[in-house]
Amino acid sequence: MKPKEQITIAIDGHSACGKSTTAKAVAKKMGFTYIDSGAMYRAVTLQMIRNQIDLNNLSDVEDILQQTDITFRYNSVNQENEIYLNGINVENEIRSTYVANLVSDVSALLPVRKAMVRLQQKIARTSEKGVVMDGRDIGTVVLPDADFKFFMTADAKVRAARRQKELEEKGVYISIEDVLKNLSDRDKKDSSRKESPLRKADDAINIDTSNLTFEDQVNIIIKAIAEK
Ligand code: DC
Repeated sequence: MKPKEQITIAIDGHSACGKSTTAKAVAKKMGFTYIDSGAMYRAVTLQMIRNQIDLNNLSDVEDILQQTDITFRYNSVNQENEIYLNGINVENEIRSTYVANLVSDVSALLPVRKAMVRLQQKIARTSEKGVVMDGRDIGTVVLPDADFKFFMTADAKVRAARRQKELEEKGVYISIEDVLKNLSDRDKKDSSRKESPLRKADDAINIDTSNLTFEDQVNIIIKAIAEK
């Protein structure tokens, strides 16, 4: 159960359609806590890679989950919540290609999903402020009683171009074909997996961001909240 008076906003959708930047901006405008659930799956993936876990061996997966501590800490310099894996800041490393290429496989594993959903619900429950959480199953599984649910989509080519630009700004240069391939592989795996696949909640508002500016995206959400 969420604390009384606490507003929860769930934003789900495909990879690289602007969910995280939009969710972050909405949280900032509303004075809410932003929780990046994808970052949590990426941190678990990094833990699997570092420990060379065979993903087919669920007993090893469960063991390593016991030794995985994921937390968010507020960085007052950039004013963002950053992710820590066993006490170490991994905010940059989780965006690497080797993590991106494996994260859909790791996030399809039931023990991983159970552990992450539990943690996401706990973080939301114990947050003193309202919460904006983005991901794939937030409106359907993690926060099914969220006050507001949005489902963001965008044309695959538009998404690939955006992701490529984002990576370039971080000094990572990848061809548009490779970015597109990673995105469509992930879309396919995220939407077709057995455990809580990516799906629009029946009561979510659909937002296609293909032809929207970043400001438009944020304003659509803020307006929908203000109108209710
Ligand atoms: O949002 P992102 O691209 O950083 O997410 C990385 C991966 O994590 C994505 O391919 C699917 C998975 N994920 C998930 O299964 N459930 C979530 N709630 C969030 C992300």
